[in-house]
Amino acid sequence: PRVAVVFGGRSSEHGISCVTAGSVLRAIDRTAYDVVPIGIATDGRWVLESGDPERLRIESADRLPAVDGSRASIVLAQDSTSTDLVVHEPSQPPQTLGEVDVVFPVLHGPWGEDGTIQGMLEMAGVRYVGAGVLASAVSMDKAYMKVVLQAAGLPVMPSVTITRRQWDRDAQGCREQAAGIGYPLFVKPARGGSSIGISKAHDPSELDEAVETALREDPKVLLEVAAEGAREVECGVLQSLDGTPETSMPAELRVGGDHEFYDFAAKYLPGEHTEIDIPADLTDEVAAELRRLAALAFEAVGCEGLARVDFFAFPDGSLVVNEINTMPGFTPTSMYPQMWAASGLDYPALVDRLIQLALQ
Ligand code: DAL
Ligand code: MG
Repeated sequence: PRVAVVFGGRSSEHGISCVTAGSVLRAIDRTAYDVVPIGIATDGRWVLESGDPERLRIESADRLPAVDGSRASIVLAQDSTSTDLVVHEPSQPPQTLGEVDVVFPVLHGPWGEDGTIQGMLEMAGVRYVGAGVLASAVSMDKAYMKVVLQAAGLPVMPSVTITRRQWDRDAQGCREQAAGIGYPLFVKPARGGSSIGISKAHDPSELDEAVETALREDPKVLLEVAAEGAREVECGVLQSLDGTPETSMPAELRVGGDHEFYDFAAKYLPGEHTEIDIPADLTDEVAAELRRLAALAFEAVGCEGLARVDFFAFPDGSLVVNEINTMPGFTPTSMYPQMWAASGLDYPALVDRLIQLALQ
């Protein structure tokens, strides 16, 4: 089968998507799949990438790889019987790459993990890896994600949502809402990822700057009660070929150094003192409950293929769902592949399962 690996994209997680794609391109079985690497430049243009995984490595926070936007552009061309990929190079006749059997959208954040590309692929009649339109859109938007999870009886941290318009019109009212839920609190862009734009406001004096930071990422932000004293524990969910959501061993992240939470640097940069325990040091009962809740969250949102469900684990054994990621990072330091490796499924097998699920 022919697999188009699509990566980069227009979100602030462009570079992370490139690193994820590098790992996927390295792992994919070229004897089983014909791979077409497609980059989406930060301006939204689709280009035929070289697909050289060595180019797609992370070096430092300001040296993330990016899609080479100068390459030949690509369009999906649809007629009544098929959808082809067509390459346009200036002053050359259009060249068709032929049909693809499945698209692997290795994209994080808006315009990729949020149902937009999924909708485009539905319209074009092309199969793709991962969650569909609704599950992607709901999981990308932390405000709606909480509504859906709560409706399914899953515990979430209390929060309020404010918009750019509300902040501009009535910042004092927003500050009162923040005081109502209590400090310390986290201020998060509603539709972000990789902790970009997230900060912790310890007291009211830190709120305004935190809100402005988050509003630079998204005109909608969440003020969320900080899960003080909780540990951060995650669980991978992967569908079996019969559709059952299977769960990985849970893992715990312990953030050290100067990081007060699992921020961008702690997530991706080498030597940033994030320690990972796989399996997480939980009692059997808590671990089993966490896996049950992860599968429930996956089904509540209607995910397909894969997801990573992130939790807060409190000292009394209670668990709260932090969020669902429908296209979790697959970089070498990412939790999702590491949790599955520890659970007996190595990286190439994981990639293969995801493609096989999409091809069904
Ligand atoms: N948003 C990042 C890629 C993650 O959830 O892993
Ligand atoms: Mg996320």
